[in-house]
Amino acid sequence: MHRMARFPLLPALLLAVASALVPATVADPQATLLNLGCSQYNATPTAGFLAALNTTFAELRANLSTGSGFATASEPRAAAPAFAMAQCRPYVTGRDCVACFDAAAVRTRTSCGAANGGRAILDGCVIRYESAAFFDQTTLPGNTQLCNGSAVAGGGFDGAVRALVGELTAVVPRVSGLAAAAAGSGVYAMAQCVETIGMGGCAQCLEVASRNIEACSPNSDGRAVDAGCFMRYSDKRFFPANATVDLAPYLRSGEFTAFTHYIHHLCFAVSC
Ligand SMILES: *[C@@H]1O[C@H](CO)[C@@H](O)[C@H](O)[C@H]1NC(C)=O
Ligand SMILES: *[C@@H]1O[C@H](CO)[C@@H](O)[C@H](O)[C@H]1NC(C)=O
Ligand SMILES: *[C@@H]1O[C@H](CO)[C@@H](O)[C@H](O)[C@H]1NC(C)=O
Ligand SMILES: *[C@@H]1O[C@H](CO)[C@@H](O)[C@H](O)[C@H]1NC(C)=O
Repeated sequence: MHRMARFPLLPALLLAVASALVPATVADPQATLLNLGCSQYNATPTAGFLAALNTTFAELRANLSTGSGFATASEPRAAAPAFAMAQCRPYVTGRDCVACFDAAAVRTRTSCGAANGGRAILDGCVIRYESAAFFDQTTLPGNTQLCNGSAVAGGGFDGAVRALVGELTAVVPRVSGLAAAAAGSGVYAMAQCVETIGMGGCAQCLEVASRNIEACSPNSDGRAVDAGCFMRYSDKRFFPANATVDLAPYLRSGEFTAFTHYIHHLCFAVSC
C-alpha cells in the first residue's frame, strides 16, 4: 500500500504500437502498450540502482530466452537493491516473448529514467521493477479496465462475455501456470496471474479484474490490468486456436458451485 501510493497504475490509457521495433522474423509479439507507470521517487544512489537494474534485466531476458514465459530476478545485496519481473502471455512464446520483453524494456527505460520503480503492461507481456520485493503483490489501487471498440450488435455478446470471464475467473487460479485462454459464442478471452502470487492471490486478483473488465461489455474489446493479473476479451481472435484450454473439466469440479454464488454477489455489486 505504502509503496503503491507512490507508484500507482496510471489511470489514463497510453496506447501505442511498437511494431517498428520488431524484427521481421518475429510473428507477433503483441507489443501494443496498455499501461505505463513510473515511481515518482528517484533511486539512490542512482548509478548503483541502474547497474543493479541492468543485471536483473539481463537475467530476465536470458531466462525468457529459454522459453520459460515467466521470470523474476533480484539484486538484493547491491548498493541500491533492484527486483524485477517479466511475464509473457501463454500464447506469446519463444522469440515473440523476448521481442515483447525488449519492447517493454524500451518503454520503461525511455520513460522512467532514474525512478526506483517502473511498469510497462503490453498486450503480449508485462515487466515491472522496484527497489523492494513485490513478487507477492496481487491487487493494488490503480487496477482498472481498458475498454475499446463499440457495442457488438446482436444481443448475445454481453452474456457470452460475462460467462467466459466468469469461467476463467473460476478456473485460472487452479490451472498450472495460472493462465488460460478460451473461446465460445463469438468471444475470445484470457486470464493470467503473476506466477509468484499463487492460487489464493490469483483468485483475489481475478475477482477484481473480472469486475473491471465486465464494465467494458458489450463493447467489442476489453482488458483489465492490475499488479498481479491481466484479463482480456475480444470479438476477434487474438491467440492461436491451439492455445485454448478446455474449461469444462475444471468447471465440473465442486469448487465451481461456491463460485456461482460469488458471481451473483459480484453482479449485485455492479447492478447487473
Ligand atoms: C546497461 O546495459 C546496456 C547494454 O545492455 C549498456 O549499454 C548500459 O551502459 C548499461 N547501463 C548501466 C548503468 O550499466
Ligand atoms: C527463471 O525465473 C523463474 C522465476 O523466478 C525461476 O523459477 C527459474 O529458475 C528461472 N530460470 C532460469 C533459467 O534462470
Ligand atoms: C482501439 O481501437 C482503435 C480503433 O480501432 C485501434 O486503433 C487501437 O489500436 C485499439 N486499441 C487497443 C489497445 O487495441
Ligand atoms: C500451436 O501451433 C503452432 C504452429 O502450428 C505450434 O508451433 C505450437 O507449438 C502449437 N502450440 C501448442 C500449445 O500446441
